[in-house]
Amino acid sequence: MIRIEFRGLLKIGVTAAVGMMAALVPGAAEDFGPVPQIETNAAQVELGRRLFFDKRLSGDAAISCASCHDPARGFADGLPLSAAYPGSLGFRNTPTLINTAHRAAWFHDGRLGSNLNDVTREMITEDYMMNMDMRLMQERFKQDPVYVEMFEAAGYGEPSNGGARKAIPEFLKTLISRNSAFDRGELSPSEQSGFTIFAGVAGCGTCHSGPRFTDDRVYNTGVPDNPEIWRNPMRHTTFVAYAMFMGIENFMNIRRDPGAHVRGHAADGSDVGTFLTPTLRELTHTGPYMHNGVFATLEEVIDFYDAGGGDDPNKDRRLMPLGLSKQQRTDLVAFLRALSGDPLTGPEFVWQDPIPTEYDVIDDWRETPN
Ligand code: HEC
Ligand code: HEC
Repeated sequence: MIRIEFRGLLKIGVTAAVGMMAALVPGAAEDFGPVPQIETNAAQVELGRRLFFDKRLSGDAAISCASCHDPARGFADGLPLSAAYPGSLGFRNTPTLINTAHRAAWFHDGRLGSNLNDVTREMITEDYMMNMDMRLMQERFKQDPVYVEMFEAAGYGEPSNGGARKAIPEFLKTLISRNSAFDRGELSPSEQSGFTIFAGVAGCGTCHSGPRFTDDRVYNTGVPDNPEIWRNPMRHTTFVAYAMFMGIENFMNIRRDPGAHVRGHAADGSDVGTFLTPTLRELTHTGPYMHNGVFATLEEVIDFYDAGGGDDPNKDRRLMPLGLSKQQRTDLVAFLRALSGDPLTGPEFVWQDPIPTEYDVIDDWRETPN
């Protein structure tokens, strides 16, 4: 079920919108709270963790999920725009996977609103991602006695695509923020002042609400386009293929990311350039920021909001110039940093043993002792 709601404020006057904003802004720390942990099955998580770090899930065994979603970088990659399957380059910023299991829709444009099983399939099979034929992937698993044992222990029977698509989401459910200064209730005076501004005058909490600091809806904030996507033929080619596949008219000529228009296809184009509100947890580890990585630092993001967002005819009316003082901007950044918790880099999140990509062919995998 897709739960994306397109802006309802478009036709309401600014005064009414501001009035609604005042009613909607959450003010207290309890409105945000720690992100709930999710119960998981240990054997399925362990299988999912190995799969996440296994390069054999990509067509030419060159990249794993962790190549782009690196635990040391908050399960993002530190790049403005993502890498891609060898021979291509991406056109979106790699999002963190921390807390992604709580999302109601996935990808910057929210184009998948079902579940992580489908998101996992998309990542594996999409030609600019891992470019893998899942029928081949399943046979590769059977050639590895470690997997034969792990799929069995996880209750999935023999190695299969279906089992892999269940185990990886099970692992993703363990990637939950923990122990941030905000959750411990240990904000410094500057961070506390930043929180007051965030939830009050700056109106950030209208969209960045709840424990993950996102309402899982799409908005146009007027983030400028990243010209690198159209300047670099490798990225442009990937973008064109995507836009064509998503049914975007004029896909050869457009020079901007349509965002959630690929889902809504609003006839008046009012949803062009809308993107899902991202989580504000773990930002310390996950820059650059926005769907296209145009902002390298949190200071740049705050300057952007202070100016009332970007320049776009579809821009959400809630964004208005804020006129923050230098101290207020510093405090907002300090507050955002206080939403980052312990890095998820321990052995419970990172597969430790080497994973072979080359091995002797086993004629009948059912006969191997395990
Ligand atoms: C080549 C880099 C790359 C690889 C490899 C990759 N991802 Fe991603 N991932 C991305 C990018 C880029 C996006 C955002 C795509 C978009 O918005 O169109 C993304 C989005 C996601 C999301 C949605 C997150 C959200 O909050 O919307 C999930 C979940 C995810 N990836 C999981 C995985 C898994 C599991 C694997 C391995 C099976 C994987 N990814 C492999 C780059 C990669
Ligand atoms: C109208 C809804 C809305 C309001 C109000 C809003 N944001 Fe956002 N925010 C978004 C959306 C949507 C994005 C993603 C835009 C994109 O990717 O192009 C975003 C992105 C961000 C990011 C980048 C996160 C990342 O991982 O890339 C930060 C940081 C942020 N907002 C902080 C704030 C702060 C601080 C305020 C208040 C000054 C604020 N936002 C107000 C909707 C909003």
